[in-house]
Amino acid sequence: MSVTVNFTRRDGTVLNVEADEGESLLTVAQNAGLPLEGTCEGQMACSTCHVYVAREWFDRLEPPREEEEDMLDLAAAARANSRLSCQIELTAELDGIAITIPPTSYDQSR
Ligand code: FES
Repeated sequence: MSVTVNFTRRDGTVLNVEADEGESLLTVAQNAGLPLEGTCEGQMACSTCHVYVAREWFDRLEPPREEEEDMLDLAAAARANSRLSCQIELTAELDGIAITIPPTSYDQSR
């Protein structure tokens, strides 16, 4: 089953992306050309995959592990609804999830 992810870009425009269950949110964002660097490729050793999760979706996610909380403490412009996108695996229950790219996100490779 496909899962729709609604990304809000830094400029406020919205991009709707179809993804597959089991994909990581970081991979989906990168494949869509969004500026999430993901330097450590999901090892929770950076915070360059940081995103904001819309409040109505935030509580539906598995809670972050302690390692993720530690990295979020270091993320620029972190908020109460911040998560590391590499730690979010898309499931059917997350169809329609709304994600915002932080204003500080930047991908040098793009
Ligand atoms: S890619 Fe480094 S913590 Fe997510």
